[in-house]
Formats: sequence, C-alpha cells, structure tokens
Amino acid sequence: MTLYGVGLGPGASDLITLRGKRALEEADTVYTPGRLSRSVAVEHVPESRLGDLDFPMTRDPEELRRAWREAADAVAPVARDGDAAFVTLGDPNVYSTFGHLRRTLDAFHPDVDVETVPGVSATTAFTTALGVEVEAGAGLALREADAGRSPTGPDRMVLFKVTDAPATHEGLVDAGYEVTYGRRLFMEQGDTVVTDDPEDIADRDYYTLAYARRPDAGEEPATAAFADGDTTATEATETDGGESATGGDR
Ligand SMILES: C[S@@+](CC[C@H](N)C(=O)[O-])C[C@H]1O[C@@H](n2cnc3c(N)ncnc32)[C@H](O)[C@@H]1O
Repeated sequence: MTLYGVGLGPGASDLITLRGKRALEEADTVYTPGRLSRSVAVEHVPESRLGDLDFPMTRDPEELRRAWREAADAVAPVARDGDAAFVTLGDPNVYSTFGHLRRTLDAFHPDVDVETVPGVSATTAFTTALGVEVEAGAGLALREADAGRSPTGPDRMVLFKVTDAPATHEGLVDAGYEVTYGRRLFMEQGDTVVTDDPEDIADRDYYTLAYARRPDAGEEPATAAFADGDTTATEATETDGGESATGGDR
C-alpha cells in the first residue's frame, strides 16, 4: 500500500488540509518525528495508532544515515501491508525530515509507494501572521539563519531557524534590511509573538522565523495609491471599456 508524508500545517489543529486529515484517519500507523508534531497529530488520531521512531540529535552524517535506515526499515513493512503516515509540521517538502525518509525508502525499499500530502507551510503562513503581502512581481527567497547567522542578498527573504534573534538582527540591519519576527505562528502550543524588536524574542525558540525586506524593494502595485489616500486614481479608468487589467484568476 502506501506511506503518506502528511503536512500538518503550522501547528493549529484546524490548519491541516482535509486530505491530510483523511490520510491520518485512514493510516494504520502514524509516525511523528518530534514532540510538537506528535501533539498536533493526536488531535486527529488516537495515541494507540501513533508509531515510535527514534531520531538522534546529531549532525553526524553517518549517524543520521544509520537512524534513517532504521526508520525506513521500521516503516516499510507497515506501509507494505497497509497504509502508514509520517507527519511533519508545515509542508513535508519544505526544510523537512520527510525528505530523508523518502530517499531512504527509495534506496532500500523501492517497492513501497510514497505519496505526499502538502501542508500549509510557515513559508506562506507568515504572510498572514505578520501582515505581509508578497505582491505580484515580487521575489522572495528562503534562507536559514540558525546560530545568529544573517544571510543577505535578495530584496525579500524569509529566514528560518532564527535561534539567536539579536545577533541575526544586527547583521540584517547593517545590510539595510527592515525585519519582523514571528514565533510560534498559528500554533496551539506556546505563545505566538510577532515583533520588530529582537530583544522580545532573545531567548532561543526553534519555532521562530524572520521576514527581512529592503525598504526600497520593488515597485508599488497600482492599488497602493488607495492606501496612500488617493481615491481619485480610478477616475480615468472607470469609463474605459475593454478587458480587465486585473491579470485574471491568479
Ligand atoms: C525544519 S523547518 C520546517 C518547516 C516546515 N516544514 C514548513 O513547511 O513550515 C523549521 C523552521 O520553520 C519555521 N517554522 C515552522 N513552523 C513555524 C511556526 N508555526 N511559526 C514560526 N516559525 C515556524 C521556524 O523557523 C523553524 O525553525
């Protein structure tokens, strides 16, 4: 049968997709790679159907390969006889542990079917939580900023793994960025914080991201004129016939 890699969304139990919820309800065993994903999964499946996998806290490639090999060996027979699910917070294909499991299954258990059910990623959920609009035509880069790092370059970036916000902030501000931070966005576990002040989130919490933007990044969209109070800007076009210039359904 199948192993489903299911994205749980950012953490609130009602931000899983209908398809993801169904996959969890129908799976014989649901594997969770961490405490937080487990606490979201139990909102949808009884604890008796949760599977146990051990993951060492290490960056050593050999130890990691051994751990994922053991995980794949444990999951494969379950996914061969029935359906299994492996959950991740956010989306399973964005900075996620699911890629390790998929690659290891492909290598050592190629007969196991693997499907992914996408989830609401922090990559998109941050926009609503931080009140950000990524306008049509704008670029947006994803980066990691663990251990106080401050990657720079693109005009707009979402930085993941912000574990030392004051240090990361210093590098970003020096490089001309304006920065907003989001911690535990759309999560039921812990307090949600949205702030421009890195000292508010100086303590380490892995579930912290940053949105960094150069103040002069990109052109303003046409309707930005309304936000500036210019409601006369429609007058020239109201009498225009012809096709819509809204760009269609996108
Ligand atoms: C290993 S990545 C996992 C990303 C996840 N697969 C996704 O699609 O959202 C973990 C990082 O994502 C960010 N993150 C994930 N969920 C978050 C949330 N609810 N609030 C804030 N940051 C979050 C944090 O920067 C965290 O360090």
